[in-house]
Amino acid sequence: KKKIAVMTSGGDAPGMNPAVRAVVRAGIYLGCDVFAVYEGYTGLVTGGDLLKKMSWGDVRGFLSYGGTNIGTARCMEFRKREGRLMGAYNMISNGIDALIVCGGDGSLTGADLFRAEWPSLLDELIETGRLTKSQVAPHRNLTIVGLVGSIDNDMAMTDATIGAYSALERISEMVDYIDATASSHSRAFVVEVMGRHCGWLGLMAGLSTGADFIFIPERPPKHGKWQEDLKHVCSKHRAKGRRKTTVIVAEGAIDDQLQPITSDEVKKVLVELGLDTRITTLGHVQRGGTAVAYDRLLSTLQGVEAVKAVLDLTPEDPSPMIGILENRIVRRPLVEAVALTKSVADAIESKDFDKAMSLRDTNFAE
Ligand code: F6P
Repeated sequence: KKKIAVMTSGGDAPGMNPAVRAVVRAGIYLGCDVFAVYEGYTGLVTGGDLLKKMSWGDVRGFLSYGGTNIGTARCMEFRKREGRLMGAYNMISNGIDALIVCGGDGSLTGADLFRAEWPSLLDELIETGRLTKSQVAPHRNLTIVGLVGSIDNDMAMTDATIGAYSALERISEMVDYIDATASSHSRAFVVEVMGRHCGWLGLMAGLSTGADFIFIPERPPKHGKWQEDLKHVCSKHRAKGRRKTTVIVAEGAIDDQLQPITSDEVKKVLVELGLDTRITTLGHVQRGGTAVAYDRLLSTLQGVEAVKAVLDLTPEDPSPMIGILENRIVRRPLVEAVALTKSVADAIESKDFDKAMSLRDTNFAE
């Protein structure tokens, strides 16, 4: 019987629970044993109670829970070889040689490296007497499948990551609340949204709520110039009769000299314009709460696909990432998706913003 483990790792994202549910149930349905690894990679390193065989009923109700019930962590031990050795030991001791990870690019890259190192980890476990040759023999290959769980929608080769539409929904709802009070007092609000290196949440929230101005990392304004542009646009909107001003600032907003644009600086400019201005940093409200229907569907379809991939893959196949492109659930090489994602950050760092934008376009289109 094939034994599969499922784990959530990195920052939590709405839809992780439905993803775990889908993997557990599709796995059982297709004749596998499915284990949940609790607390991200910490669960692999520690083993014991943190590696639990799941039954159909263990994931009952998971579709509508926010966060991740099996826990997540940013695990330092797994970055060291001894931690990964323990991870391999705990997996093999339980007869597990397939791992489905739902996380961001860092967590997925870690999983692929673990796979590359797997044969040498097994050799070391035999050499040090921790496992016997016959225990290891049936598990010479590790299968890794990635599900992208991240509210930032920051992975290439997929149109949407699990959690992004839920976070967007939450932001839009919060901006609507803010707009009501802003209009009442004729005030300005600077709303800071998440998205460490990716402006998707800021851009989409701006479009969804009709914000006056947005700041995102991929399309930075000219150094020292944005202040005038901001004043010009906001006063034009006011002149047309708008009673509120909403400016959305992505967490990673910068100018074209890579200088951070902070909410405080934006507020200062709006105050200079004579607007009574407040800052609202939405923070982790954006990540919490139940997943919207789209994320429940996405994670369910992708969870099922991940189990099918585990059962189809040969040792020669590269580790796949399960994505969605043009409304179809697809498999793409995990390493390539991570490399393309990184190329956007590199383009921004080298101030080639046109390249960053076009990479985002082409990346997401495929
Ligand atoms: O990557 C997801 C994310 O929510 C980012 O948008 C944000 O910068 C970061 O995680 C916050 O991480 P933490 O929860 O560790 O503060």
